[in-house]
Amino acid sequence: MRISNPQLLPLCQSLWLPVTFRTQIRPLSRWHAQQSSDVYIKAAKAESYRCRSAFKLLQINESFSLFKGKKRVVDLGAAPGSWSQIAVKLARKEPSTIPVLSIDLLDFEPVPGTIHLPKTSVENTTVINKALEEMWGENKPQLVLSDMLHNVSGENSFDHINSLKLCSHVLKFCFIHLEDRGSVVMKIYNGPHEPEFIKLLQFYFKRVKRFKPDASRKSSKEHYIIAKGFQRDVYDKKHSRPEIQDDLSEELD
Ligand SMILES: C[S@@+](CC[C@H](N)C(=O)[O-])C[C@H]1O[C@@H](n2cnc3c(N)ncnc32)[C@H](O)[C@@H]1O
Repeated sequence: MRISNPQLLPLCQSLWLPVTFRTQIRPLSRWHAQQSSDVYIKAAKAESYRCRSAFKLLQINESFSLFKGKKRVVDLGAAPGSWSQIAVKLARKEPSTIPVLSIDLLDFEPVPGTIHLPKTSVENTTVINKALEEMWGENKPQLVLSDMLHNVSGENSFDHINSLKLCSHVLKFCFIHLEDRGSVVMKIYNGPHEPEFIKLLQFYFKRVKRFKPDASRKSSKEHYIIAKGFQRDVYDKKHSRPEIQDDLSEELD
């Protein structure tokens, strides 16, 4: 039997218990200790957010006013749904428009107020294009959120490369769908290729910043890139010249 409540441990130890029973009483694992002392987990429960990540987005928004005036938001890697919960609250409401499209590889419960695409990869352009068209017609999303990350392996360079691949998918998504002057937030796992990727973003966006919200664990190598002011004309100009298109594919590979 495991004692998961730390307050019961001294009590059980002071009682007479058969040796076999006593030897099975173990202190809490580090993960359990971290979970039970984590203020953001407690706060997420109190506010009915699906996970503590909600506070990361709230803190990013506090510093960068992401949602100001935004009425069409796409949440990539949305499961279990706390960022979409925040997006529904903060997006500008318009009659008869659903403000948030939530997409994830996993199956997850729909967040009220969103259109929900479970079991869908960010790479599944056919399904995503259809949903975008049905939701907003000719109008493009104004804010793209990506908290996507694969399960980290603990091998830093491998995790960094995987994270960069997801960030490249997010950037491609912006190239195709993001409205002129729109914004994007994406999670990235620290590593040596980030400066190059930031340079690429700086070419297409007016302002690019890195940010680690307080709710992101100090021990985690994740942080966020916030890029605002997408310049669609810069993208279109670059893409009107085929030789530059080839450079771009190389940059994103
Ligand atoms: C940290 S979780 C997101 C948590 C979410 N922001 C929230 O607040 O509830 C990262 C998610 O990214 C998703 N993901 C990873 N790769 C993806 C891909 N290629 N396409 C879509 N989702 C992906 C994972 O399935 C996972 O659910």
